[in-house]
Amino acid sequence: MVALTVNGKTHQVDVDPDTPLLYVLRGELELNAAKYGCGLGQCGACTVLVDGEPVFSCVTPVLVLEGRKVTTVEGLGTLEAPGPLQQAFIEEQAAQCGYCIAGMMMRAQALLQRNAAATDEEIKAHMEPNLCRCGTHMRIMAAIKRAGKLMQTASAASTGRTG
Ligand code: FES
Ligand code: FES
Repeated sequence: MVALTVNGKTHQVDVDPDTPLLYVLRGELELNAAKYGCGLGQCGACTVLVDGEPVFSCVTPVLVLEGRKVTTVEGLGTLEAPGPLQQAFIEEQAAQCGYCIAGMMMRAQALLQRNAAATDEEIKAHMEPNLCRCGTHMRIMAAIKRAGKLMQTASAASTGRTG
């Protein structure tokens, strides 16, 4: 039994501790956004955050995750109340087939939560491990920039309210 905290909720999962996180998310927890692309840590389709940092869930055994916080794209918002990245990806129509998109959003989230004003060059360098076979990179870039602006606006508004 492994205790896994995903999107703020702790689950006891009855799996072999060597099981990759991706299989547990999809097979046990019904969190199907993260995708199986290569299974080898080479494409990024399975990217989720662990304690705020992007990891390839296809090569991350659940045993190393006890006591750590996993975030998947389902944890960024809901259909009714999408988070900034989800909103921006919709507005920019950034997905073509969509297979890479959850991984893209999670890697982008790691960057934007540190620096919502990241430059094009910083975004390109940060996103490098994640591949998109459909070639929608320009729209993905635009969506990440838009999400950063949404985050900055929200942060300014919240500072204004509390300050
Ligand atoms: S499926 Fe995990 S990196 Fe490709
Ligand atoms: S939108 Fe198809 S792989 Fe990226």
